[in-house]
Amino acid sequence: MQSTKISYNNSFPKVRLRRNRTHSWLRNIVSETKLSVDDLICPIFIRDQKDEKDIPSIPGVQRHNLSELIDYVGQLRELKIPAIHLFPYFNKEDRLDNVVSMLTPDNMLCRAIEELKRQIPGIGIISDVALDCYSTHGQDGIVVDGKIDNDKTLEVISHYAQVQAAAGVDIIAPSEMMDGRIGAIREALDSHGHNDVGILSYAAKYASGFYGPFRDAVGSKNCLGQADKKTYQMDPRNAEEAMREIALDIEEGADWIMVKPGLLYLDILKMAKEQFKIPTFAFHVSGELAMLKAAAKNGWLDYNQCLIETMYAFKRAGADGILTYAAAEVATLLKEGHE
Ligand code: PBG
Repeated sequence: MQSTKISYNNSFPKVRLRRNRTHSWLRNIVSETKLSVDDLICPIFIRDQKDEKDIPSIPGVQRHNLSELIDYVGQLRELKIPAIHLFPYFNKEDRLDNVVSMLTPDNMLCRAIEELKRQIPGIGIISDVALDCYSTHGQDGIVVDGKIDNDKTLEVISHYAQVQAAAGVDIIAPSEMMDGRIGAIREALDSHGHNDVGILSYAAKYASGFYGPFRDAVGSKNCLGQADKKTYQMDPRNAEEAMREIALDIEEGADWIMVKPGLLYLDILKMAKEQFKIPTFAFHVSGELAMLKAAAKNGWLDYNQCLIETMYAFKRAGADGILTYAAAEVATLLKEGHE
């Protein structure tokens, strides 16, 4: 038999990397990546009283009416989750062709923002201005002659940003991928005295199939039908273009940037953080969580272990923070000392 001495590694047996893996406390001390509850932002769906609570494609994630929302956000606050991101659900009948008339200070989203600020101060509120939650066609922008009109959309979303700012939102997170939106929104906010309201740009947002359960959750799926969002969301084949998107958004005044979907685009996340060194967020999107839930339900994966591992993947790639529907579960696992 051949000698077991490893000729290509003279440091063995003096150096044994397994030594640092011996105990849980030791693994914790030498871990290169840290994850804390401070890294978590919880996206939340809100609904009108009459509408359905459950979302079958992401079991365990629900749409909340106003009183349920107050309870849920109260629980998140208890867990010390720093911020939430609100999305409204409107069923097909409640959506309008004239979407602008829905973007008012007394709409469901603005009322929720006001009520949360009154009842649960201290938790950050982020919200979107994209039109897919309101429009009859389910597209994020204004449609003119069958096309998404970039500059008309800018007028509408920058108006809506200022309406939400007046309701008390802390950060506007535009997700609709129009060109020039960060500059337009910044200008609208500043000209209405909202210079403290920040902008989290969905800067590198890809035209992904993994948004399916989200589209169920906000009711845009059956409005969209066979239509897609490829004329404004990024092509999954492109990485350098993402850096151009991000550079433009920073130049226009973005305070934070986001990569989305997060898990499938860890390469983009890493490139972005290394290149721009600004607060960078990953969105653990609905389909990425739904895959895990479905596999775990079948007993094929361990939910908690895979969930935490997913969070570490985002952090290791350079995310400063993570948007995840599982924020409460992650916070609870961390509290319990899960490695
Ligand atoms: C729409 C929007 C989408 C998501 C956030 N904002 C979906 C889409 O572009 O159709 C996806 C989030 C998720 O899948 O969790 N403006």
